[in-house]
Parts: sequence; C-alpha cells; structure tokens
Amino acid sequence: MTSLTTHSPWWKTGVIYQIYPRSFYDANGDGIGDLQGIMHRLDYIQWLGVRAIWISPFYPSPMADFGYDIANYTDIDPLFGTMDDFEQLLQGAHQRGLKVILDFVPNHTSDLHPWFVESKSSKASAKRDWYIWQDGKPDGGEPNNWKSVFGGSAWEWDAHTRQYYYHGFLKEQPDLNWRNEAVQEAMYDVMRFWLDKGVDGFRVDVMWHLIKDAQLRDNPVNPDYTESQPTYDQLLPVYSTDQPEVHAIVARMREVTDAYDERVLIGEVYLPIQQLMTYYGAQNDGAHMPFNFLLVRLPWQAQEIAAAIDQYEGALPANGWPNWVLGNHDNPRIVSRVGESQARVAAMLLLTLRGTPTLYYGDEIGMRDVAIPAEEMQDPQGLNMPEKDLSRDPCRTPMQWSGEAHAGFSTAKPWLRVDKRYRRVNVERQRDDPFSMLSLHRKLIELRNSEPALNQGSYTPLFSNDQVIVYRRDSPDGDSFLVVLNLTSRPCRYRQSQQPYLHGQVVVATSPEMEDTIISENIYLNGDEGIVVRLEHRDDATT
Ligand code: NOJ
Repeated sequence: MTSLTTHSPWWKTGVIYQIYPRSFYDANGDGIGDLQGIMHRLDYIQWLGVRAIWISPFYPSPMADFGYDIANYTDIDPLFGTMDDFEQLLQGAHQRGLKVILDFVPNHTSDLHPWFVESKSSKASAKRDWYIWQDGKPDGGEPNNWKSVFGGSAWEWDAHTRQYYYHGFLKEQPDLNWRNEAVQEAMYDVMRFWLDKGVDGFRVDVMWHLIKDAQLRDNPVNPDYTESQPTYDQLLPVYSTDQPEVHAIVARMREVTDAYDERVLIGEVYLPIQQLMTYYGAQNDGAHMPFNFLLVRLPWQAQEIAAAIDQYEGALPANGWPNWVLGNHDNPRIVSRVGESQARVAAMLLLTLRGTPTLYYGDEIGMRDVAIPAEEMQDPQGLNMPEKDLSRDPCRTPMQWSGEAHAGFSTAKPWLRVDKRYRRVNVERQRDDPFSMLSLHRKLIELRNSEPALNQGSYTPLFSNDQVIVYRRDSPDGDSFLVVLNLTSRPCRYRQSQQPYLHGQVVVATSPEMEDTIISENIYLNGDEGIVVRLEHRDDATT
C-alpha cells in the first residue's frame, strides 16, 4: 500500500528530551554535569528512542540563575566544557540521528555581560538604550509598580548613573530593550552563529516577556491573589508581558530560523490557551511550537484534563502543530504530583496525544522531587521567597544512572544531593526490566515512532468522566489506535456506547500483564492503568 501520510518534519514526528546539563552526567569529576557528560550518554538517549535533545543553557554565566543569566551568548562556560566539546557533541548527536535544540535566552543578559557593563557605565554610553533605564518618580520612587518573578520589585537603583533598570527576574538579569533595533540585530546574529554551527533549533526562554508596554504603565492588582502565591502574582502582568509588538519579533526570529533547513523555533510561553495560540503567528509566522504547559499546570483530574485537551485542539490555528510538556526544570516532577503508579498513565498520555511530546530527563525512570534541606538550597527563586516553598532544586537533582556512589552521576559529591532511592530507581536497574518505567517509556516511544497514526494522525476524543479519558488516533492509511486511561487509583469500566464496537489488541499497557489482551465492548481497567489498543482495520471490523 502506498503511504498516504505526507512528509513531516522531525520536530513534528519525534520526541524531544530535555537535558538540564548541570545534572545529567559529570564526565570531569567536579560534581557538576557537563557537555562531555552528555556526549557519554548519547547512546542511551538514542536507545531511548527520542529524536532530539534540548539542552538548558551552558554559556558563560555567573550562574546567579544557573545559566539563565548569560555573560556571553556565543561561547561555552568552562564549567560545562569548551567549544570543541560542543562541536563534538553536536557531531556525535547528528551521527546518531539526534537533533540538538539550544536554549536561547534573549529577554535578559547577566549583569556581567559586557553589554550591560557598558550600558551601566554612563548615561551617555552607546549601549545605554540596550537595556530599560528609567528615572525615578519625582519623589524618587520606582518608575512603576512592576514586580520581579523571583520576588520583590523589578526595578534596581543604580547609584552611579542615578537611574533604575528593569529586571523581570533577578537583579543580576537585566532585561534587554527589544525596542532597540541594534539589540534585535545582535540577537538574531546570535541565532545565526549557532545555526551556522549546525544546531537544529531553539527553545526561546520567556518569549512572552520580550517586549514591555511603551509607556511602562502600572500593572493592575490581581483580585484573586492569595498569600500562598508568589508575590509576583499580586499584580496582573498585562503591561509587562504579552504585548502586541512581541509577535513582530517572534516573526523575525522565525525568519532567521527558516533561512536554514528544517530548524525549529519553540517558545516558552505560560499563558492561557487563547493567548498562547497567538504565538503561532497570525500568518503561521510565529513559533513552530509555543510550549503547551496544560499538563504541567492543571490538577490531575480526568474530566478537567480531557476538556483542556479538547480546548487546546479546538483553538489551534490551521496548520498549527500541537505539543505537550509533562515536566521541566521549573516545575515539580510528575511522580511527585501524581504518584509513581499514576505517573505511568501520565507517560502514556504524553506519548500518545497528537503533537510533539517533551520529556524531562529522569522522568523516564520515575525520578521524583528530592527534599533539599534549607542549608543546601541553591535556587534563587527558593532563596528569595523562603516562606513560599518555591525552590526548583527538588526537580533538578542528578540523573540516577546506577546503584553506584552518587547514582553513577559523578565520582565527586554532586552540586545537589541525589535522591536516597537511587539504588532502586536508576537506569541500569530498569534497563532490562520489562515492568520498569523506563521500559514503558521505550515501548511507548518506539510505538509512537513507528506508527503514523500516533506520530501524525488525527485525534478524536471518545469519552471522559471523572475517572477515564478515552480517545483514538487514526492515520490516513487506515491504522487506528484506541487509548484508554484511568486517571484515578480506583478500578473503572469503560463501556462503548456506539456500535459497531471497536475491537483490538492491547499493544502497550502500563501493566505489561495487560498486553496482548483483546478488547471489545466493555473495557475494565484497574486503578492507575492505561492501555493502547491497536484497532482492527476499519474495513475488517466485525459488528
Ligand atoms: C525560564 C527558565 O525556564 C527558568 O529556569 C529561568 O529561571 C527563567 N526563565 C529566567 O530566565
């Protein structure tokens, strides 16, 4: 049979794997992961079946925000290695058919970046306008009421030039002024620098923050704020983020990206669905994929998640390609949100929905958030707001490779403590265990890679209630899969309501004992169970 499925770019059909380089693998024995470390583990990544790696920042940085404060956009921090190491890594990845996506952080630099040092040196500096400098109010007060995501005011007073500068994050992360054309050009050149080296795309940090209101108007008070929320949420950031002008900038980033073959532009955008959609660009000229964080943000409740999937699917612009994220370096890990057993169901959901999945390192073996004692806390978000329990350290602990010391991550004491459970939860132990979380991920990824119905087929919601989500995936070639997921720990029954009943055989199950089972009208699942069923060919289906 000739294939009816059209050629799709790699970033649509494959799975993306996020690597937080400090915590992946330490090749030089200093307790911190590095580029050589990633290189050492490329065979593992290939074996896992993912198509691309996205590496969080490894550029020269004072590490005030662990690399998201960049002092040089076109070099490598010695902590992580050298440009040679990077080039080797890129080559090694490409040889294995893996794409490499870099983290691009254009909203802010480090306060030690030469641009900011120059900008700060005098009001007359040629780079003064590269950042957002403002006089105080007549009484000396801050220019407006904007707050920093990491707590406190977003304005920092510079006694030397007697003006304030704006920082949406740490004061060590001054925001660039994207209204300045020279800033734009400099940043597009950074993109070209890496694209010329052969990288396959970018994940753009805080894309929705890039441009601020031209008049810097006060943000309104958030009437729904509660004490447990970060102080940033006291205001609604309607003037400091998501400005209409941002789309022209994203379109230019897209232009730079599209000047090269099959590269991808991904945007980090935490916004409600309708606003998120605008980042695809009015003419499909925005990000290829604005990250979709619904599965990270929503309570783990079947009906709520099913509704959100449908809302998202329904809101996508024509030709807008969906994507799904279950975890990352800024949010609690899935195992810690829903428990170990339910995390298997979550993996099945992530890897069978329509759209590109992004898998966070360690989630494939069921790593959990690790309790970090206060005196070991490193994350500035946690340190700045100690009463709010916002540290991101727990989800950034070293990858658990084996039962050896430090989980085989390093020969030295790691920068963050390793989970005590590492002797039980590690790659080596799970590799050959058909019941392991790792084996489940591999099977799901393998199936997804080999079945157009799953990696590019249509999505049809069939049913949901307060326990289950049921949907099917169909390829134009006629292959179909049914996915039935129990999002609770209680047994459930899904009874097909429409004839002809769908028939088929379970090909992957969260409990491998279910594999090969034949299903028809009534489907019974235990708690925390999910199945992927290969449906009998529509033409052969008996009624
Ligand atoms: C988003 C990144 O994911 C986060 O880790 C970082 O702290 C902020 N942007 C600031 O760059």
